[in-house]
Amino acid sequence: MTMTSKQLSRRDFLKLSGLALGGAALTCSGLGYAATRTPDIATPEFLFAKDTTMTQKILVTYATRAGSTAEIAAAIGQTLAERGFNAEVKPVKKVSSLAGYQSVILGSAIRMGNWLPEMVKFVQDNQLVLNGLPTALFTAHMLNTDDDEASCVAREAYTAPVRALLPKAPEALFSGVMDFSRLSFLDRFIANMVKVVESDQRDWEKIRTWANTVLN
Ligand SMILES: Cc1cc2nc3c(=O)[nH]c(=O)nc-3n(C[C@H](O)[C@H](O)[C@H](O)COP(=O)(O)O)c2cc1C
Repeated sequence: MTMTSKQLSRRDFLKLSGLALGGAALTCSGLGYAATRTPDIATPEFLFAKDTTMTQKILVTYATRAGSTAEIAAAIGQTLAERGFNAEVKPVKKVSSLAGYQSVILGSAIRMGNWLPEMVKFVQDNQLVLNGLPTALFTAHMLNTDDDEASCVAREAYTAPVRALLPKAPEALFSGVMDFSRLSFLDRFIANMVKVVESDQRDWEKIRTWANTVLN
């Protein structure tokens, strides 16, 4: 694939985070608001319950900015249902309690080298409960997808703060999507600056294979 992320380093995004901060300083003005306003992105909820006699309920909760992580979460939920689980897929902002779930899968997009803040906060707030349940993590990202050492190290850094909170949780990292029509003006500007090409790099087979074996 022609994903230019392979030619870019995570540092490129981090360097540009200064632009994002500059944008944040503008948010007092209407212009700043327009620059950071994200197009309306669907954050769907699904209940996949193929086998209604199965009582095990798995929560697949996600944090997204441009929607691709939500679609990955939906594919994971669907695969879990094919395995016989009841799988509920929900944006993390709508999860008020973990009561009633026997296992949890948490997924976030990466922005500027980090999981999205609402998902990190959710993990911090629910660390004790999550550590007492079978819990797994997945991440959607675009850079550092190669097998060389620099990529692996940078990739591992994305989830290091979360792994420190949930040390037993298995994790998967999936390539995501760069779709300018789903980005705010500012994010599109940053993506253009680092010359990221629009593409959908999701490997659905890899995602479904993981969902078929995770939390076994
Ligand atoms: C402003 C911005 C910053 C990003 N920063 C990173 C990054 O540091 N590392 C990375 O691998 N991908 C980065 N990405 C790529 C996203 O993680 C990828 O597009 C992901 O699929 C987005 O998920 P979402 O559609 O659920 O928001 C960035 C994307 C944008 C728009």
